[in-house]
Amino acid sequence: MNAAQATPVKYDMEVVRWFSIAAVIYLVVGTLLGVWIAAELAWPSLNFIPEIAFGRLRPLHTNAVIFAFGGCTLMATGYYMVQRTGATRLWSNGLAWFTFWGWNLVIVLAVITLPLGITQGKEYAELEWPIDILIAIVWLAFGLNHIMTVAIRKTSHIYVSNWFIMSMIVMITYLHVVNSLAIPVSLATSYSIYSGVQDAMVQWWWGHNAVGFYLTAGFLGIMYYFVPKQAGRPIFSYRLSVLHFWALTFGYVWLGSHHLQYTALPDWTGSLGAAVSLAMIIPSWGGAINGMMTLSGAWDRLRTDYILRFLVVALAFYAMSTFEGPVMSLKTVNALSHYTDWTIGHVHSGALGWVAMVAIGALYHMVKKLWNTEMYSDSLVNVHFWLSTIGTVVYIVAMWVSGIMQGLMWRDYDEYGTLTYTFVESVFAMHPYYAMRAIGGLIFHLGTLVMLYNVVMTVRQASAARGAAAVPAQA
Ligand code: HEM
Ligand code: HEM
Repeated sequence: MNAAQATPVKYDMEVVRWFSIAAVIYLVVGTLLGVWIAAELAWPSLNFIPEIAFGRLRPLHTNAVIFAFGGCTLMATGYYMVQRTGATRLWSNGLAWFTFWGWNLVIVLAVITLPLGITQGKEYAELEWPIDILIAIVWLAFGLNHIMTVAIRKTSHIYVSNWFIMSMIVMITYLHVVNSLAIPVSLATSYSIYSGVQDAMVQWWWGHNAVGFYLTAGFLGIMYYFVPKQAGRPIFSYRLSVLHFWALTFGYVWLGSHHLQYTALPDWTGSLGAAVSLAMIIPSWGGAINGMMTLSGAWDRLRTDYILRFLVVALAFYAMSTFEGPVMSLKTVNALSHYTDWTIGHVHSGALGWVAMVAIGALYHMVKKLWNTEMYSDSLVNVHFWLSTIGTVVYIVAMWVSGIMQGLMWRDYDEYGTLTYTFVESVFAMHPYYAMRAIGGLIFHLGTLVMLYNVVMTVRQASAARGAAAVPAQA
């Protein structure tokens, strides 16, 4: 009998509850912003004032979905998993609350500064230097709390999910700090300490690893905990999960240059990026198969377990986007795909299909456990599942068609060697696909509203049940 079985542990879950609710709200807001900017691209008259123009709201969308929704999900699940897998309370509950309020302050500051056009202009690192410092402090507090909780665990083993979360914490700390180094001029203006091609290289070393460690390693940590839990079975191969972890951690850091093919960067760096990208198919697919095979013998549960459906479809999208990414990193393919909507399609097959779906599955699982209740409506979880899946497919199909069409139109020459199409002709040709993407996004967004309603009603139902239990029955 281990320590966890001997004495039931009282976990620090209030902060996890708050992070979970915040994640659901930010998912609603982030996808609404996505729908709005998608509509702005389809119907440009919607860009009527600068504060809500595409150029200002696009970074607000990416910050809302990645840092607000993604960050709150990672902190909610991180604090949840580290306690339950270590059979211990948090090292510091107070520090966990500091991360909650600190992270939300970062989000409020992003909401104020980005529409005002205050930005460093680096993708996924737009926020100005004072906010960058705040991000580093809060992130380090999260990291310290997580690592110290692992250190005081009551179990002998460190479960693989915690390894994924810890690698994310370490890598994102130094990527964020190195990429954000800048010379401040005023509170709202600074200049990167790098210039020219070095700036581009450092930026994409960060950019790719924000994808690799934040949107992938962190969410793989979630997958390795919540898929077995929801399926009620142990992970198919624990050994494979450890291999997945080490291969991913050592491989991903070399890939950033695949974002800069055919630029001033030395040619060999792009080739290196492409070669390692191709190699990453192996651990990524190993991980996806490992997650899927966890359901062996329990596939029938998918008929009734709608939360499990989210997790399994997320794994399918993980496999798909980690096949597509390496293909796009090849120079010949990148010559067509770069600058086109194909990239946006790839981003959202990863972001909606993988990141959002696995997060939604984990959040539903946690809501039931955290409030010790069933969902208010399982049918609404099923409705949400279909809205998410259909919305994602409509979005990415629209982007694949428009992206490949753009690439082909831009490179088409006539018999005299002049371009067949003007740029503006390609913009006109995109209109139906941009409208289709906005509709797909809207479908996905409606699903998030269904989730918010279901979660609120579940929490109310749990509170009412607790209240009724506390009040003595009337005679
Ligand atoms: C309703 C759902 C969503 C819609 C309609 C939507 C729409 C958009 C649009 C229109 C863009 C700009 C594309 C362009 O510049 O051409 C964009 C960019 C982006 N979105 Fe979304 N989005 C949604 C959800 C999400 C989610 C959940 C995530 C992440 C978890 C995400 C991550 C991103 C990223 C990383 C970019 C930048 C892509 C790049 O620069 O290549 N989006 N989104
Ligand atoms: C082995 C895995 C993967 C590889 C090798 C890979 C590779 C690539 C490549 C080659 C590009 C296009 C670069 C360009 O032409 O500019 C790209 C863009 C992108 N990928 Fe992936 N990808 C992988 C998985 C994922 C996953 C799982 C996500 C999850 C969200 C994701 C998110 C993104 C984003 C956000 C961008 C756009 C970056 C930007 O231009 O702003 N990727 N990826």
